[in-house]
Amino acid sequence: MDILNIKGGVPLQGHIKAAGAKNAMTKLLVASLLSDKACTFYNVPNILDVEITVNLCKEIGSEVEWDRKEKTLRIITRELKTSYVPQKYSGSNRIPILMIGALLGRTDEDIIVPTIGGDLIGSRPVDLHIHALQKLGARIEYREMKKEGAYLAQAHQGLKGAVISLEYPSVGATENTILAAVRAKGTTLIKNAAIEPEIIDLILFLQKLGANIMVDVDRTISIQQTHRFQEVEHTVLTDRNEVASYAMAAISTKGRVFVEGAEHLHMIAFLNKLREIGGCFTIKQNGIEFFYESELKGGLHLETDVHPGFMTDWQQPFVVLLTQAKGASVIHETVYENRFGYTHMLKEMGADIELFTQCLGGKQCRFASSNHQHSLVVKGPTVLKGHSFCIPDLRAGFAYVMAALLSSETSQISNVEFLDRGYEELVQKLTALGANITRESTLKKPSGDKKMTLHQLLKVDNLAKSL
Ligand code: UD1
Repeated sequence: MDILNIKGGVPLQGHIKAAGAKNAMTKLLVASLLSDKACTFYNVPNILDVEITVNLCKEIGSEVEWDRKEKTLRIITRELKTSYVPQKYSGSNRIPILMIGALLGRTDEDIIVPTIGGDLIGSRPVDLHIHALQKLGARIEYREMKKEGAYLAQAHQGLKGAVISLEYPSVGATENTILAAVRAKGTTLIKNAAIEPEIIDLILFLQKLGANIMVDVDRTISIQQTHRFQEVEHTVLTDRNEVASYAMAAISTKGRVFVEGAEHLHMIAFLNKLREIGGCFTIKQNGIEFFYESELKGGLHLETDVHPGFMTDWQQPFVVLLTQAKGASVIHETVYENRFGYTHMLKEMGADIELFTQCLGGKQCRFASSNHQHSLVVKGPTVLKGHSFCIPDLRAGFAYVMAALLSSETSQISNVEFLDRGYEELVQKLTALGANITRESTLKKPSGDKKMTLHQLLKVDNLAKSL
């Protein structure tokens, strides 16, 4: 187990280069499985989730050359060795389920995608994926196995284009449906589709691959069957989550950081909210500079939403930022019903945060009548004490890093592997910005972990398997 030791209280200053987007690269690799042609990617992030996805692709027959230093990756899947995703990948991330969409049109064999059993899969988290693929003609069933379950999928009669209306614009379900539709006969329409920048990047890649895909003004995506595939060269878009993370770390520590490669277009909702609380930024030709100028003001109302709204993955570090803003702010999480588990630790550090089951701030979301604590009020500014944390998921992990950077005491953070999944060279980048941060391997658990084990935290956040 690796631990981060952070002694905060230092304003972050300097220049870093943003990595390619995790949420795009992992899907692009899966999309490359649609064809037997070579795909070359540039700006590939050197993160654990890409490594996991590369290994997964290799298991089913891809040949991959990945130059981590040059950030280039070439993948070609001349033929599938198997359509069985090995069990060891079942809980690794949200990627295996997308393999169904990519492989359905590529093989006549049964596709088997194991998944962790019990609460996490149930009917909910992938129900939209499954219904959409079934509508395209796939036969999919869930089978309980010895330790865990698996999805068995096949389209022996071929896939046929259909009109699919998503009940909710799920990112994963939209991607899975697009992937399957590329090889489905005729035209597929996805109504109420998600249109996140990473999905647009996937569409750009697929267009280069040979697909005809249209995004309409009303969130309808239409995909025509692709008959001929071409070799592709594709530069992965910048990771807007990483950009926002460093922006918030810079401003909350009263520093100044230039993030090279940050793309203005993908940050609009974030930048508006940052400006509303007095956070400053300058858009430059090759990136964005974020800086602190004067005391941050609370009084903010923020609702997470699907794109082009304020992204849910920005929410956790933004709450940490708001602990440093004067006054009370309201956050309403409308994408995930249970994404405030991490606030428990922030409160122990001294943050003033109260959770509510109601939809605070006006809009009623789909969790209005549930009993989930999905709104919060955070008051600031507060001094945060050092703490020992156990990371429950990727974005909460960065929120903890930020909180530790704000405290002038020393904090210890365990389960650092969660951060490795999505943050390229985190320790090196923070060190370059002047942070006092070290990473060590240890068998010991940090002492502050007694209150909540990782397992308990995972239950609270229920996001352990999300990327
Ligand atoms: C992706 C991102 C994640 C981001 C999320 C929302 C990746 C690897 N991860 O996750 O960082 O937070 O989009 O922007 O790209 N849902 C269902 N049934 C389904 C699918 C989803 O009910 O079949 C629900 C989920 O439980 C959640 C909401 O829809 O409440 C959004 O999920 P979704 O958009 O699918 O997120 P992911 O694709 O998993």
